Amino acid sequence: MLPYQTVFFDLDGTITDSQPGIYACAVYALEKMGYPIPDDRTLRRFMGPPLAESFANFCGMTEEEAIRASNFYRERYNPIGWKENRVFSRIRQLLCELKKRGAYVAVATGKPQASAEKILAYFGLTQYLDCIAGPQNGEFHISKAELIRRAMPENAGRCVMVGDTVGDVMGAKECHVDSVAVLYGYGENAEIIASHPTHVAETEDDLCNILCPEMEKGKGYFVTLEGVDGCGKSTQAAMLKAKLEQFGYTVHRTREPGGCPLAEEIRKLLLAKEDGGMCPETEALLFAAARAQHIHQVILPKVAAGEIVLCDRYVDSSIAYQGDARGLARAWIMEINRVALTKGMPSATLYLRMTAEEAFRRRLAESEPDRIEQMGLSFQQKIEQGYEQLMAEFPHRFVPVDATKKPDEVAEEAFAKLFERMNREGIL
Ligand code: TYD
Repeated sequence: MLPYQTVFFDLDGTITDSQPGIYACAVYALEKMGYPIPDDRTLRRFMGPPLAESFANFCGMTEEEAIRASNFYRERYNPIGWKENRVFSRIRQLLCELKKRGAYVAVATGKPQASAEKILAYFGLTQYLDCIAGPQNGEFHISKAELIRRAMPENAGRCVMVGDTVGDVMGAKECHVDSVAVLYGYGENAEIIASHPTHVAETEDDLCNILCPEMEKGKGYFVTLEGVDGCGKSTQAAMLKAKLEQFGYTVHRTREPGGCPLAEEIRKLLLAKEDGGMCPETEALLFAAARAQHIHQVILPKVAAGEIVLCDRYVDSSIAYQGDARGLARAWIMEINRVALTKGMPSATLYLRMTAEEAFRRRLAESEPDRIEQMGLSFQQKIEQGYEQLMAEFPHRFVPVDATKKPDEVAEEAFAKLFERMNREGIL
């Protein structure tokens, strides 16, 4: 049984952290206006009050300048800035669990209703909400209490308002509902505590304990990225990590060969230009040895701790490179990689699909090839065939992504496919 049957959430500073977008847009506007960029403490004060007021009060602009600065701010905020939000960790899971256990879940925000709806939809959170209440067009000075009243259902049961500012706590008191003051947002902590909220949550975990004490730790997830040399994996891994973090996930990015000190030492042997006549079997065994260490020391513990592990290459690389391209028997590759196959298989493998010819062309223009890359085009073609075969064999695990598009578009496709899958599998 939940302690509260109706839960109202503030948005900014409670569900999402809008600071990165607000800072970036304020800096953009100040640069356009030729004004110096103030320190972080001053920028922090932009969170909350109307924009033009902030430019006038904190940067010393005239009224006319402040209006121009606000227009520059919006020039960046409307297309990009609003997406530079971050969902606080565990909040996605909390909203889902509250809904699943029958609570009425609403957002009562001072942000215009249309913007709040857009942000919540973008982050895939609308599905967990019964109501979003924010100021409508033309409503300027609407109180938190009025927003709570608007969002209040019939038969509300015990109610609580969760927020990071004094306004949230006072609004709750006015409506005779309990309140949780969260200290992980950007409200002034001393002030909010002095307003006597019913509960104080220092961290997202505290909030989960107050609202849904039986909720378990989030599930981890293991994702690998694969593709021929030069398909753009490293760029994509970095972009994917940033995006997952924005959506509230804790992500550990790693790579193979490597990912922990011992495996990084093995990596040096494997990728050195002078290989001392390394034979294919030695090569395969070294990749497998590095992997065994990586699995035990990093991958399994991180997944068990509820993190998303994003690994650049994994056992499929050994099958495609040492098996299909070097010509070693697949069954033997599987045998020496038994730890991976039995204890540590990824839930999803993003396959950045690009032909060997295309990747080869792109790579020639870029960097000096390492020992494996020096093998040439026909070697890469065998790897490509190996991956295509793996994709046909493991259609549920392999998630193909068209890697020939622009990096931003590839990232969008990769994230959309992964996020859809994680939602389906209850990875929140
Ligand atoms: P790296 O510089 O990390 O290349 P990439 O960015 O393409 O991953 O080098 C890793 C090289 O090792 C790459 O050519 C693929 C190869 N490799 C194997 O041959 N077998 C394996 O099991 C793994 C993990 C990598």
